[in-house]
Amino acid sequence: MNQMLKKKDRISKLIMENKGILKCPLCGKQMQIQASSSLTCKSKHCFDLSKKGYLNLLTSHYDAVYSKDLFEARHQVCRAGFFDPLMDVLEEIIKKHQHKVGDRKLAVFDAGCGEGSHLSSLTRRLVAADEGKSTEKETGKKEYFFAGADISKESIHIAAGSDGGDILWCVADLAKLPFHNGSFDVILNILSPANYLEFTRVLRNDGIIVKVFPDSRYLMELRNILYHGKENISYSNDRMVDYFAQKLTVTDTRKITYSFEISRELFPQLMKMTPLTWGADEARLEVRDFEMPTHITVDLTVMTGIMKE
Ligand SMILES: C[S@@+](CC[C@H](N)C(=O)[O-])C[C@H]1O[C@@H](n2cnc3c(N)ncnc32)[C@H](O)[C@@H]1O
Ligand SMILES: [Zn+2]
Repeated sequence: MNQMLKKKDRISKLIMENKGILKCPLCGKQMQIQASSSLTCKSKHCFDLSKKGYLNLLTSHYDAVYSKDLFEARHQVCRAGFFDPLMDVLEEIIKKHQHKVGDRKLAVFDAGCGEGSHLSSLTRRLVAADEGKSTEKETGKKEYFFAGADISKESIHIAAGSDGGDILWCVADLAKLPFHNGSFDVILNILSPANYLEFTRVLRNDGIIVKVFPDSRYLMELRNILYHGKENISYSNDRMVDYFAQKLTVTDTRKITYSFEISRELFPQLMKMTPLTWGADEARLEVRDFEMPTHITVDLTVMTGIMKE
């Protein structure tokens, strides 16, 4: 109980310290935190902070597409280090941008953050790297603000429940973000849908958008099992990549390909964590021992873009 209260208090403090960022999703006015438990705007629209310390800022009903099971499975897979090489690259990109912005606080937003593992991991990495500096002169120390949003309440519930850091988690629609214009230095959009109009609105003029796309060999061993002999076996992201380049000026493109050794215990979670399994024949979901791959291919492209002139 105390833990819960502490978390709520920490998040209230975080909101207070960054009060210029959140805007009312109904009328667009500034919001203020009241007695550690709710946010209200000048028009008296009110949103409660949940016990776990996240905000539900969705203004219309949303029928869940991804299940709680999928997010829990994804959480296990992330914790096993499945995406660690991707995290290395994202950490490097953020740090590079951090050097450019100088001493001001760096605001990082994960749009479509799912169960939150990626943002939590990046937060830990960036803050840990910074804490190393506390023994040196204070000068190099950075301040951050981290926020993650997803339309799925189930996913945000998991994110807020497992994050030990100070991240503002919101249930919100990417098509109507509850943030004021120019709030963020870095917007991450990892394997999720994008809304470039909203992303560029909430991005600072000198900010970056970092999008992670799945490439043709991503989880190919699962595709082979699930869709053997059927049309879904290959996948191309050309259309999404072109759209990114149409909306933004591309400043960096990285290809990340590796093979992750998968244990027999983790494999069922991997099967559950991906929408790939939705279209599959039920029978194909029962993977027999001899079919179980020992390695899974991760094949991604990371593109960084800035606003067009
Ligand atoms: C494949 S998951 C990826 C989640 C996370 N970025 C990751 O890599 O684990 C796609 C995510 O996009 C979210 N999403 C889809 N449409 C959305 C929308 N309109 N607004 C916010 N999130 C959305 C889903 O709920 C889901 O969590
Ligand atoms: Zn309002």
